Amino acid sequence: MRLLDLASLSSVRAFCDAFKQSGPSGSGSGADAASAAAAAAAAPLLNGPRGRPLHALVCNAGVFNMGVRARRETDEGGLEEHMACNHLGHFLLALLLMPSLRAGTRDLEERERRRRKEEGGAASAPPPPLLPRARVVSVSSAMHHYGASLGRTEADRADPMLKSRRGLYSTDRAYGRSKLAQLLFARELARRAKGAGAGAGAGAGAREGGGGAVDSFALHPGMVVTDVVRSLPPAVGAAYRALMGRLLLSPDEGARASVHAATALDPVGGGVGGAAAAAASSGSASSSELWYLDANARPTAPCAAAECPETAAWLWRWSAETVGLRAGEDVV
Ligand SMILES: NC(=O)c1ccc[n+]([C@@H]2O[C@H](COP(=O)([O-])OP(=O)(O)OC[C@H]3O[C@@H](n4cnc5c(N)ncnc54)[C@H](OP(=O)(O)O)[C@@H]3O)[C@@H](O)[C@H]2O)c1
Repeated sequence: MRLLDLASLSSVRAFCDAFKQSGPSGSGSGADAASAAAAAAAAPLLNGPRGRPLHALVCNAGVFNMGVRARRETDEGGLEEHMACNHLGHFLLALLLMPSLRAGTRDLEERERRRRKEEGGAASAPPPPLLPRARVVSVSSAMHHYGASLGRTEADRADPMLKSRRGLYSTDRAYGRSKLAQLLFARELARRAKGAGAGAGAGAGAREGGGGAVDSFALHPGMVVTDVVRSLPPAVGAAYRALMGRLLLSPDEGARASVHAATALDPVGGGVGGAAAAAASSGSASSSELWYLDANARPTAPCAAAECPETAAWLWRWSAETVGLRAGEDVV
């Protein structure tokens, strides 16, 4: 287990360095000389261009300072707290771990080839239409609608964290903007991964392996009774839990879409004859809608602002600049 503070860019960097230098079982964190020497010997392999294999990254951590704490707060680096933790921390985390995710896809493909061989099939036989892929899962929220103004005007692009336009600030809006930023990131990541590898997660149909391509999905987990109300006064929080505990999803139920997106071979049901292909061909959903899942893990449409390629491209550039992405780290 390693500590990670997503609101601190230095913590994200330290976490990723430690992850990539550790062995598959976390041997790099061992304190004795023998394991340190073993980790040092393995480091060039694990931390090379292929990276330590990582099969799924679920960007679930989040803050929502609701209620009486409706002031604009910043983190240690002066970044607005919702944007810092919910989007920028995850953005940096995902990009620094991209070599490991690509290695994860290759590892999954290799395992699939071995499995087919053990079952008697020829290793050189044509691959099935779908191969397992590593993926980034962004846990967003239906409240991304509250952030629809993010990046829509030049004035907003000059001040995406509402620093100089404090009259516009509310924690609902700040949270919504961070959740929209997660969706724009997920969409742009899927598009970029498509360019870099074979197919992308954004509702791609049949796909082939080989490029170490990484899928990207986003979701709304549903309305879930969790500690998300921790910023409310204790009595209000307790009343909320008592009342809403009967109506809203339990934490287990709220994890359904995340687990599905992280583990299903094809979370949006694409592929020949799949649910997504059927939905697209019947006109009930376009393929571009099939990267965002609802609480029941069904593909659904986010708000139009989340589908704007131009805003997504701007957000990527702004995020890279804000987190101080170094040359060679924008690897998608
Ligand atoms: N609950 C809902 O109804 C709902 C609805 C829509 C979307 N969501 C989304 O679902 C996700 C999970 O939220 P939740 O409802 O489970 O809220 P939660 O109970 O408050 O859990 C938030 C989690 O994020 C972690 N976290 C917060 N700040 C962090 C930081 N700076 N660095 C690392 N980890 C940090 C917390 O870790 P610690 O416990 O260690 O602080 C905690 O594990 C969030 O992204 C949220 O926006 C929730």
